[in-house]
Amino acid sequence: MKITFKTLLLPVAAALLVAPVQAATFKMAIGDAAGGTQWELGQEFAKRFKEKTGGKHKISLFPNGQLGSEEDTVNNAAMGLLDFSILAVNNITPFSPTVGLLSLPYLIQSAEDARKLTTGPVGKELTENTVRDAKVRIVGWAYSGFRVLTNSKKAVRNLDDLKGLVVRVPKNEIMIATYQAWGINPTPMAWSETFTGLQQRVIDGQDNPYITVSAMKFYEVQKYVTNIRYLFSLEPLIVSEQVFKAQKPEVQQAILEAGHEATAHSFKFLQDSEARIRQDLAARGMQIVDPDNGEKEWIQKASTVVWPKFYKSVGGKEKVDVALKALGR
Ligand code: MLT
Repeated sequence: MKITFKTLLLPVAAALLVAPVQAATFKMAIGDAAGGTQWELGQEFAKRFKEKTGGKHKISLFPNGQLGSEEDTVNNAAMGLLDFSILAVNNITPFSPTVGLLSLPYLIQSAEDARKLTTGPVGKELTENTVRDAKVRIVGWAYSGFRVLTNSKKAVRNLDDLKGLVVRVPKNEIMIATYQAWGINPTPMAWSETFTGLQQRVIDGQDNPYITVSAMKFYEVQKYVTNIRYLFSLEPLIVSEQVFKAQKPEVQQAILEAGHEATAHSFKFLQDSEARIRQDLAARGMQIVDPDNGEKEWIQKASTVVWPKFYKSVGGKEKVDVALKALGR
């Protein structure tokens, strides 16, 4: 046979056709800075996913909103332009409103409640809904603790103290309505702009969990903390449904298992670190107070006014009742 360039290349082309899938490195966006619960979940997921795929598939983590605002990452993942993202659940709700169930003020009253809802049938249904509505699949959860209120101006103990403060909230209707029920009009702002907003004093305060306040170095620009407990912060790990579907079954399985294991790790991380981080923030000069009267006024206003407004968007009052039943209430 006459040896030509073409005949030399034929075996190479054939080998390529049967070659096993090449190693892949997936991109993971992380809204918070390194060191928080999102980062911890992402790192644990990446470690376990790599192990489960025999080192063939890896994850590169991009913290601190490097790949865009948390909302942008949902859009990009929906279009298959981004593989994974970890973000606060309140920033997925605009794309899949039933997820708002988890943001109803005072619905989740403990870390255990949060775990029950996210890992039980309620979480499963919400995951199916995000695939349907937002084209992203929730494969893991970071548990970050209650969102506490921080501000640069004064100690806030009651709703009167709140008046006059410019408080940033995510672009989330339920959170906006909650502050309105408390008597102020909050300022919706993307997470990626929040530190600068606080630093430049465009806003006086915001709410996020202790671990996030610490990871984001908010203690540099905020002095006062109020221990409100209206929202337990949950940070889902999402994968683009397009990207997920394009994987072989064993890689899909590795994603699901790694997500499951990283979720358990996140729960433990919260228990191990929240109290220590709170102490550290106090040592850095943050002044921490509890709301007056066991937060009674805050709870009463938020639950009676806000819940009924959102029954429809979370799928009906019956969905809230199912969640309450799952929590034994
Ligand atoms: C927000 O306030 O927008 C989020 O909770 C930020 C986060 O992802 O930690």
